[in-house]
Amino acid sequence: MRRKVGTDEETVLNNQDFYAGQQGYMDRVRRLAASIYERTPMACVITYGCQQNVSDSERTKGMLEQMGYTLTEEPAEADFVLYNTCAVREHAEERVYGNLGAMKHLKRRKPDMILGLCGCMAQQGRVGDRIRRSYPYVDLLFGTHVQHRLPEFLYRCLSMHERVFETDDSEPCVTEGMPVHRDGSYKAWLPVMYGCNNFCTYCIVPYVRGRERSRNPEDVLKEAKELIAAGYKDITLLGQNVNSYGKGEAHGVNFAGLLRQINDLPGDFRIRFMTSHPKDCTDELLDAMRDCGKVCHHLHLPFQSGSDRILKAMNRHYDRAGYLALVEAARKRMPDIQLTSDIIVGFPGETREDFEQTLSLIKEVRFASLFTFIYSPREGTPAAQMPDPVSRQEKGQWFEELLRTQEAIAKENNAKLIGRVLKVLCDDHGRTPDYMAGHSGENIVVEFPGTPDDLGKFFTVKIVSLDHVLKGEVLG
Ligand code: SAH
Ligand code: SF4
Ligand code: F3S
Repeated sequence: MRRKVGTDEETVLNNQDFYAGQQGYMDRVRRLAASIYERTPMACVITYGCQQNVSDSERTKGMLEQMGYTLTEEPAEADFVLYNTCAVREHAEERVYGNLGAMKHLKRRKPDMILGLCGCMAQQGRVGDRIRRSYPYVDLLFGTHVQHRLPEFLYRCLSMHERVFETDDSEPCVTEGMPVHRDGSYKAWLPVMYGCNNFCTYCIVPYVRGRERSRNPEDVLKEAKELIAAGYKDITLLGQNVNSYGKGEAHGVNFAGLLRQINDLPGDFRIRFMTSHPKDCTDELLDAMRDCGKVCHHLHLPFQSGSDRILKAMNRHYDRAGYLALVEAARKRMPDIQLTSDIIVGFPGETREDFEQTLSLIKEVRFASLFTFIYSPREGTPAAQMPDPVSRQEKGQWFEELLRTQEAIAKENNAKLIGRVLKVLCDDHGRTPDYMAGHSGENIVVEFPGTPDDLGKFFTVKIVSLDHVLKGEVLG
C-alpha cells in the first residue's frame, strides 16, 4: 500500500499499482544487467547513520536481490555500489565525501560500474549540487523520499547511460510491500513510523526525512509475525520518535496499544523500541512496558542537556524536572529498568554552568550508557544561526569530562549487577575462547561459557564477576 498522508483528503493509492510499476523495472534491470555484465551482477550497499538507515538498506538490498544482484561487502567486487548516507553531523558527511573520492580510481578501472548515493545526505539540495559538480563519476543520487523507486532509477542508469538525480521534495508516503534482505538471523529491525515533526533546533532529521507518518498496525503485525515465524528472537521497533506512533491516523492505535498487540503474538521473542522522545513518553507507555512480558526493560530516552535554558533553546518541550519525573515513573514501575540516553555537548550558547547541569543530571540518573556528541552545526537548522562563542577545544574538554564521569558511573553500576540473574540472548563470540556473549532484555552485555552453537538462543545467566566485561554462569 502506498499512502499519501498529511493532506486533507488522504489519497490511497492501490498497492498493486505501485508495486507493479517497480516490478516492471525490476524485470528490466534483471535482464539488462545480466546482458551487460555477462554474469550474475554484484551489488554492495554501504550504510552510515542510525538504525533507520540500516533498516532502509535492508529493503534496498531486498530489491537488489529481486533484480538478480548478489550482495557483497566488498566495493571492488561490485557492479553497483550504493552509499546510504547520514547527515546528522558534519563528520558523517565528511566520511562519505572521503570514501567517494577513493571510488574514483575504482570507477576508472570498471567503467560499467554504477556508483550511487542515497539516504539523508542525498535528500539535501546542496549535496546534490556538490556531487553533480565535483564528483562527475557518481551516476545516481536519490533522496529518502523516493528510495522505493530504486529499480526505476537503476534501469535509467543502465539503459540510457545518464546520470540520474532524484530528490523529490513532495511529502513522502508510507510504502509497503518492498522485499527485505535481513542482515541478522535472530535480531531484526521493524520500522513502525517514519519522519519527524519535532524540529529540535540543532537537528537535520526533519528536513531530510519529512513529516511523521506511521505504518498501519496490520502491516506492522504482519511483518512481526513473519519475523517470529522465521525464528527472530529480538525485534526492535523503529522510528525517530516511536511515542508519536499513530498520531493523526484513522486507525486510532497509539504506540502503547501497538506494543500490547505485538506482545500478544505467540512465540518466544522479545521486543525493543527506539527512539522515545521524553515529551511524548506517557504513563500509558510505561504501563504497557511493565505489563508486557516480551517488552524489554530498557528505555533509550535522550535528554540532550541537563539545563532548562538549553533545553528551551533546543526546542525539546520538557525540562529537567519533567525528565527526572519520567525516570522516577519508569523505575517505580520497573525497578530493574536500564536507561540510556543521548547528550549533546556544546550547543550554541551553552555555558560551563549549563554543562555542569548535564553532568549533575547523569550523576543523578546513573544511566547504564550514553551516546555523547559534540554539537555540529547543520546548515538550514535554527541552531546553526545562533551565536556559538565557546571554542571547539573547550567543548572537547567538557566532552572528555562527561565521558570520564559516565565511565565511573558505568563501572559502579556494573559492579552492582553481580549476583543478578538475567535472560540473555546469545548474539556474539566472547573475548576469550570458550566464551560467548549476549544481551539481556535490559541491554546488559554478559559473557558466559558457550560455543557458537548457542548463537540465537536464550540462556538464563547469573552474573558472577566483572573483569572489563561482566561474566556469568549459565543456570539450568
Ligand atoms: N530521534 C532521536 C534522535 C535522532 S539523531 C531523538 O530525538 O532522540 C541521534 C542523536 O544525534 C540525537 O539524539 C542527538 O543527540 C544527536 N544529534 C542530532 N543532531 C545533532 C547535531 N547537530 N550535533 C550533534 N549531535 C546531534
Ligand atoms: Fe531530531 Fe529532535 Fe526529531 Fe530526534 S526528535 S529526530 S533529535 S528533530
Ligand atoms: Fe543520520 Fe538520517 Fe538517521 S541523518 S541519524 S541516518 S535519520
